[in-house]
Amino acid sequence: MRVHLTLLAGVFAFATSNVMLSAQAKPAAPADQHEAGEHHHPEAAAVKNPVKSTPESIAAGKKLYDMQCATCHGATGKGDGKMAASIPDPKPSDLTDATWKHGSTDGEIFTLIGNGAKGTAMRGYASRMKPEDIWNMVNYIRTLSPKSATR
Ligand code: HEC
Repeated sequence: MRVHLTLLAGVFAFATSNVMLSAQAKPAAPADQHEAGEHHHPEAAAVKNPVKSTPESIAAGKKLYDMQCATCHGATGKGDGKMAASIPDPKPSDLTDATWKHGSTDGEIFTLIGNGAKGTAMRGYASRMKPEDIWNMVNYIRTLSPKSATR
């Protein structure tokens, strides 16, 4: 248990220093220039989730996830959906592990789902879904794993 907590603290410190570094290094990229590589978005990290993680929100998010996302990310979020094998690198992310390539806050996950990741199979859903629906999916994804601890 002690090791686990230390690890979490380490991940948190790393994420925090990364955000601070990128904030100092250059101004935030506009949303339409979303990059595929590992990076963080200070401006997206600051976006607060306006939708409470209620059982209703989580159920609504799961329904959408099962229809729109599970083919790639898998029924339980492991990145092992039916289409995953035929997708070239980068593969659909495992949404249950401790790695958030595009940042670990609700705001960053929301922004990534909305914009997609340029040059990858992850398309943006902002033009096809209401913000509230995307937040519901963020709340659902949070329930898939211990990743919720890195919020
Ligand atoms: C056609 C396959 C495909 C579908 C459908 C898809 N994704 Fe993705 N998704 C990907 C790929 C590929 C990546 C990895 C992008 C990268 O490496 O930059 C990704 C990345 C992500 C990430 C970032 C994870 C991280 O660790 O930072 C999230 C969150 C995500 N997807 C959520 C969703 C949600 C929610 C849906 C449904 C609305 C969805 N995806 C539908 C292929 C897909």
